[in-house]
Amino acid sequence: MKFGFFDDANREYVITTPRTPYPWINYLGTQGFFSLISNTAGGYSFYKDARLRRITRYRYNNVPIDMGGRYFYINDNGTIWNPGWSPVKTELDAYECRHGMGYTKITGKKNDLKVNVTFFVPQDYDGEVQQVVLTNEGSVEKSFSLFSFAEWCLWDAQDDSNNFQRNFSTGRVEVDGSVIYHKTEYRDRRNHYAFYSVNDTIDGYDTDRDSFIGLYNGFNNPEAVLANKATNSFADGWAPIASHFKKITLKPGESKTLVFILGYVEMPQDQKFEADGKTINKVKAKAMIEKYNTPEKFEAGMKELKGYWDKLLGILSVSTPDDKVDRMVNIWNQYQCMVTFNLSRSASYFESGIGRGMGFRDSNQDVLGFVHQIPDRAKERIIDIASTQFPDGGCYHQYQPLTKKGNADIGGDFSDDPLWLILSVSAYIKETGDWGILDEMVPYDNDMSVAEPLLEHLKVSFYHIVNNLGPHGLPLAMRADWNDCINLSCFSDTPGESFQTYTNPKFAAEGGYSKVAESVMVAALFTYSGPNYVAILKHLGKDDEAAKAQAEIDKMKKNIMESAWDGDWFLRAYDANGEKMGSKECEEGQIFIEPQGFAIMSDVGKEQGADLKTLAAIDERLNTKYGLVLNNPAFTKYYIQYGEISTYPGGYKENAGIFTHNNAWIICAAAYAGQGDQAFKYYSEIAPAFTEETSDIHKTEPYVYGQMIGGKDAGADIGQTGKNFGQGKNSWLTGTAAWNMVAISQYILGVQPDFDGLAINPSIPHEWDGFKATRQFRGATYNITVKNPNHVCKGVASMEVDGKAVDGCIVPYVDGQKEYNVVVTLG
Ligand code: GLC
Ligand code: GLC
Repeated sequence: MKFGFFDDANREYVITTPRTPYPWINYLGTQGFFSLISNTAGGYSFYKDARLRRITRYRYNNVPIDMGGRYFYINDNGTIWNPGWSPVKTELDAYECRHGMGYTKITGKKNDLKVNVTFFVPQDYDGEVQQVVLTNEGSVEKSFSLFSFAEWCLWDAQDDSNNFQRNFSTGRVEVDGSVIYHKTEYRDRRNHYAFYSVNDTIDGYDTDRDSFIGLYNGFNNPEAVLANKATNSFADGWAPIASHFKKITLKPGESKTLVFILGYVEMPQDQKFEADGKTINKVKAKAMIEKYNTPEKFEAGMKELKGYWDKLLGILSVSTPDDKVDRMVNIWNQYQCMVTFNLSRSASYFESGIGRGMGFRDSNQDVLGFVHQIPDRAKERIIDIASTQFPDGGCYHQYQPLTKKGNADIGGDFSDDPLWLILSVSAYIKETGDWGILDEMVPYDNDMSVAEPLLEHLKVSFYHIVNNLGPHGLPLAMRADWNDCINLSCFSDTPGESFQTYTNPKFAAEGGYSKVAESVMVAALFTYSGPNYVAILKHLGKDDEAAKAQAEIDKMKKNIMESAWDGDWFLRAYDANGEKMGSKECEEGQIFIEPQGFAIMSDVGKEQGADLKTLAAIDERLNTKYGLVLNNPAFTKYYIQYGEISTYPGGYKENAGIFTHNNAWIICAAAYAGQGDQAFKYYSEIAPAFTEETSDIHKTEPYVYGQMIGGKDAGADIGQTGKNFGQGKNSWLTGTAAWNMVAISQYILGVQPDFDGLAINPSIPHEWDGFKATRQFRGATYNITVKNPNHVCKGVASMEVDGKAVDGCIVPYVDGQKEYNVVVTLG
């Protein structure tokens, strides 16, 4: 069942009922000011840091769901409603929500009154602009009232939700004409305030929540709206809000447009107040309001935003036989990659914005998805990440976006972390040809006095693996590898201990983690990412170092085949008891997804057919119609030696859930191995546009990936096998976005930046006749046509560039050439 449709021409998803199976959200803002907005206008705003500068309040896990947002209430002679249906939930005569690139338009209609609200955050602007257009579509004059509503958060979202003994006494506001200012703590230690304005006179306002809503009422029946009259309340402690009240009369066919602005302002210490020393200096707020206080200025801001996205999305566009692929590649997958760049894993409807900072591994992987769009910011991000590394190649697992410092509470020793840096730096060089990044002086642990060129960071990353091997010559698993929930040194039996950070005293003498437990996943990731390091060294003429590194990769491959090949697939790990994990010999968890794709793509055991055997096993054991599960069989009991993975009921999260991030590795591997049909099958099982038809099962947004989809084992342990099979969770902020962008664009469509230029080497469904792509790459436009006359999946039979035959599949780069016309024929 669908709850809307894609409008590709406008790059929008159009939601046609407010009763979506979960709130379907969008993000506004790309720089400093961000908002989350659901299809019923729920959500909140923050400046830069979703925990420390929360501007409006939001209550997670609420009943009913998604309560709190920027709401407009209409009181039309006693009929009370919202254009976004919620929170009043009066049945509307018409409803539509269009989520677009950085904006959302919600339209509701009731009793001939149509209200259309467009929300967006303009470029270079610290505020959310909301244009409300009210139209009388009937044949008689209408008089009604409009109330706006926003609830202020007292800045620190964590403190706001638990320190009530203080917070109920600190709230402070100012009202000046039609502008309501929120200035809690501004008198003392803060230099920022927020405001909510409207570009017209008002008939009243409220700034105190209990006066507006009523202590025993809800967002769905605020007392002031029921009474059709604002109370002009002035918050003094308790819960400050901002609500404008306006009476409006419209003749038949007449429209009225109002522009509301929810803004954030920072002031220099010595200019915080007016001469009286207590009134807010409003100069900056007034200038901000001035910038968007007419419909014309609003339009100009929207146009600028569109230009921004035209540019970003114009870098890669494809035309394939499948319009779902086109809308993923050209619009939504790229859009989601930018959102993960902006937000990392901080704020979504599943991430509360008060939890984690930026992840070392997560952020490096995110780079793979957006580097072609904003290479300069990718470079900056890479350097920030590398600056949290230690001289031995280890690193902080997370860092704070505001301070850019490593997070000592979480610490390091996640075995996979350093390898992702090699991949992100390689991706950056392949995209830009900017080898200069390797010479950038990058500190260790943010200490510039021990800075070294980025190339050295790659070296210590590579050797951090080599220097930390276990008994089988495989990398030590440490606290966790990519899978946060495989914690082989944890042995936790006490509630509340963090599986990722708890150090079992058992391993104290060994430095905090087992020197026996080994990760095959990291071994395979090493053989996959390592060759990039070797290629970089060769390019720099460092042949001896390259040979030395290559020897380590070869040795690792040998070790994998000797100790981690289970006959039909690769093992997952050796646990701290030296037992195999992810083997036929195991009772549960016999096969895991994570090592397989990287091993296949590094040709580990290829000469003995390991790649095809593994792909066959994956198809048989892990694949389902909704994607590939992480492991099989699911764990049905707690394995203390494995850690968090076995705490999840089977079918969820890392325990046999469909963890979409690593599905991409199999899509890439199948494509790499020439199985274009299989690759596309796995791709289409999870790609959002393909799940649209089953939105009632999938639940989360059909335009973006989620981290997890319920696996085939969901509900099995409670006698409800398949319960929640196919149900999506944790949408938006996931490495799935970047990896699936890589999978479809570089492995299936095969448009792959390489160190020496752009390679075209597709692996597509055999029935496709071909496809076209346009790619901006290193300052030139590549017009690519792929022909598939013999209906194969893979294999470049010939390549012509500007009419001339070329050997291989890399378009030779000609300095200064601005356009390349490339024709690739498969066969
Ligand atoms: C989450 C984490 C990521 C981890 C994955 C698997 O997506 O953000 O770092 O690799 O879970 O546990
Ligand atoms: C939990 C989650 C996992 C996530 C990790 C990071 O372990 O299950 O998915 O990556 O927390 O905080």
